[in-house]
Amino acid sequence: MAPNSKVYTYDEVAKHNHNKDCWIVVHGKVYDVTSFLLAHPGGDEALVLATGKDATIDFEDVGHSDSAVEDMQKYYVGEIDTNTVTGKVDNSTSTTTQAAPNESSGIVLKVLQYLLPLLILGFAYALQYYGKGSKPSES
Ligand code: HEM
Repeated sequence: MAPNSKVYTYDEVAKHNHNKDCWIVVHGKVYDVTSFLLAHPGGDEALVLATGKDATIDFEDVGHSDSAVEDMQKYYVGEIDTNTVTGKVDNSTSTTTQAAPNESSGIVLKVLQYLLPLLILGFAYALQYYGKGSKPSES
């Protein structure tokens, strides 16, 4: 953190959410990109859509160049108070935790795949066996 840098709450930053007044949060730092909106190679809309949240992942997903990261410093206005950020998305890997239920239903499907033909076979065999037994004798 830069010395004497201002610390903003999430609510304060989230108010600046349109194309006349646009602040974004990347890596815990707050940037006032209002004057950069029209010059942004990714378009003004990308920046406006990145307001009101932690835009770190959006920013990183684009794979911004080193010169873009250098450029950012011109728009730095302070730090975000991380305790006030709701619905934080910073570097979480929550997608991996959702794999377990899918995995278990996959196992059930595999078991059914083998069990079903066996059941049909058993049923056909039983039908033949009992079918023969109940036939009236032809003699
Ligand atoms: C102060 C913050 C930002 C600066 C200074 C900045 C700067 C730049 C620059 C210089 C480029 C051209 C490509 C490069 O050199 O990397 C670019 C492209 C782009 N940026 Fe940003 N950007 C910022 C924030 C964001 C955010 C928050 C988003 C949200 C998604 C975003 C989305 C994009 C997109 C979609 C492109 C176009 C990529 C392409 O067409 O290949 N940028 N930005």
